[in-house]
Amino acid sequence: MAIESVGIVGAGQMGNGIAHVFALSGYEVLLNDINAAALDSAVATIDRNLERQVSRGKVSAEDKAAAMARIRTTTSLADLGQTDLVIEAATENEAVKNKIFDALLPHLKPETILTSNTSSISITRLASRTDRPERFMGFHFMNPVPVMQLVELIRGIATDQPTYQTLLEVVARLGKTAASAEDFPAFIVNRILVPMINEAVYTLYEGVGSVRSIDESMKLGANHPMGPLELADFIGLDTCLAIMNVLHDGLADTKYRPCPLLTKYVEAGWLGRKSGRGFYDYR
Ligand code: CAA
Repeated sequence: MAIESVGIVGAGQMGNGIAHVFALSGYEVLLNDINAAALDSAVATIDRNLERQVSRGKVSAEDKAAAMARIRTTTSLADLGQTDLVIEAATENEAVKNKIFDALLPHLKPETILTSNTSSISITRLASRTDRPERFMGFHFMNPVPVMQLVELIRGIATDQPTYQTLLEVVARLGKTAASAEDFPAFIVNRILVPMINEAVYTLYEGVGSVRSIDESMKLGANHPMGPLELADFIGLDTCLAIMNVLHDGLADTKYRPCPLLTKYVEAGWLGRKSGRGFYDYR
């Protein structure tokens, strides 16, 4: 199936990045959020990030203008009805995602491919509640989406081959690289990355190192572009905790126990960059 138009549900940091790369690759984008202010802020962020690419010579001013012209916004899920592909990029909470699918499905064309940008939740389980498990997939982008090369593709147990093939073609048109992962908790990237972040929080919790020494050690000692605590703030501590809980529940192994300090920070509302405070202070 040829994909020309894309509906994106959720205009947060992942949703706006996904809208950015689709619009730049020539797709018509309809960005949805329940919050109109979040949509305005997402469009401003996309404009700023595209401008950054223009100033570094990565994107021409004409391509930026054309990409911005391809992005429309709506607070109504019904408006996504005529799109060829829908990407749900809402918060990492299964109940929220199910609620969105329930509201969205009556409006979708039968052939529309439905995907979730979930970073950890079972694709098979999300798909099973929809009317199209064979046309449902995990479509997992990395943050910051305009920069990161990888997209994970996760087939649920019922996903059909044409759907998988179509998404492979979409990833190629985005100029990104697809990695296929089996549908097990947190797939590949987050199965490895987030327990490392959780271990860094344990390292802090147990007093082995300070925030700065832990991050400096991993940047200079392992050549990571960001230290694990800085990266946790960047991803969002609530998202990191949600992923650890999915691993802990889904794999029933104490090695995935979320660090109590991570839980405490989330309970305090210290969610990282997006809330102004996490392991670092951004205020
Ligand atoms: N939009 C467009 N371009 C952007 C951008 C954005 N949002 N953010 C950064 N860039 C560009 C910059 O313009 C710059 O471009 P040039 O190479 O052309 O100069 C380049 O990216 C590097 O940016 P900076 O110079 O500002 O800063 P940096 O060198 O420190 O890199 C970074 C920033 C790319 C974020 C880098 O620190 C990095 O790779 N960090 C690790 C990110 C990571 O691990 N992401 C995965 C998170 S896990 C995930 O996403 C999965 C999940 O489900 C939780």
